[in-house]
Amino acid sequence: MTELKNDRFLRALLREPVDVTPVWMMRQAGRYLPEYRASRERAGDFMGLCGNPDMACEVTLQPLERYPLDAAILFSDILTIPDAMGLGLYFEAGEGPKFRKPVRTEADIRALKVTDPNTDLSYVVDAVKTIRRELNGRVPLIGFSGSPWTLATYMIEGGSSRDFRRAKQMLYNQPELMHQLLDVLARSVIAYLNAQIRAGAQAVQIFDTWGGALSHSAYQEFSLRYLQQIAHGLLREHEGRRVPLILFTKGGGQWLELMADTGAEALGLDWTTDIGQARARVGTRVALQGNMDPTILYAKPERIRAEVGAILNAYGQGSGHVFNLGHGITPEVDPEHAGAFIRAVHDLSSQYHE
Ligand code: CP3
Repeated sequence: MTELKNDRFLRALLREPVDVTPVWMMRQAGRYLPEYRASRERAGDFMGLCGNPDMACEVTLQPLERYPLDAAILFSDILTIPDAMGLGLYFEAGEGPKFRKPVRTEADIRALKVTDPNTDLSYVVDAVKTIRRELNGRVPLIGFSGSPWTLATYMIEGGSSRDFRRAKQMLYNQPELMHQLLDVLARSVIAYLNAQIRAGAQAVQIFDTWGGALSHSAYQEFSLRYLQQIAHGLLREHEGRRVPLILFTKGGGQWLELMADTGAEALGLDWTTDIGQARARVGTRVALQGNMDPTILYAKPERIRAEVGAILNAYGQGSGHVFNLGHGITPEVDPEHAGAFIRAVHDLSSQYHE
């Protein structure tokens, strides 16, 4: 195995000393980059990019050619698992993801099987291997999956939703059926992430994008419990190194202590939480990732730099912070502003490290 030339991302996740605060951006390979839009055009569509390991590798590396990022993230989507379960994922221009066959009935759910990553999702496993080879130790590669609850919302609603009416109906009217769905998903996520780790992913992140739509008690019963199951089922060491797990529940700022109890190495924060207060609450149990409001990237570079400075100052001295946006970068952002953001993190953070 090639030696890692820049491991400050992995070190920060394990709260080990670093020279400067590492930084990457959720959705860093995406539509704000003209070179991404050109690759997508060549592939035909978004799923054409995800399904072709060479093209997935190409777009994964694009933001790293432009910016001094400290990690690469596999280019794929969280909805590959439901697609592999036979739901028929497709994207309609401007409308986001859709499923041809959403799960709505007890029979639909009882018929679902745990996905085998090495057959149904082999294109993702191959993409991870290709990206690792092409990265050649430049920076670590992050693998990822959606959380069972977040995947369940898309599977039941048949796409994006504002109020999760059908999913909540099932959760409250047929909790046992919902648990059956979440359990099949949790076992699929474990197999999927372990396959990504074996193929070369050096850290993994779970996107619980819609966990924050749940009530305090429903979050624990229907999302957190499955994040815990996954944390216990994952390979935690590979190639002689710890493989850190990052949990990101958007809107989950009030549950950080509970999330830290799962055994994950790090928690992702959205921008509604003060990172200094979050650090005081979780102590040395976990590292923190985040958490600049992605819309600040619409502001001028001086304002972006000031915000980066304020977040670094709020986190304070020492390791355990991976800088990121509080959610994905949006398609309308000027790539120059993304560059100003990344440079500011490295420039302004050395004073917080010995
Ligand atoms: O971070 C990265 O760079 C890795 C790639 C990545 C994508 N999707 C690429 C993508 C990751 C980690 C995801 C995760 C994902 N996908 C989530 C969880 C993350 C989050 O944002 O909270 C969710 C909810 C999805 C489902 C999904 N995929 C949606 C809602 C959409 C449509 C978004 C839109 O604005 O139209 C996608 C499509 C998608 N996934 C795109 C990209 C780059 C855009 C597709 C395109 O090129 O047209």
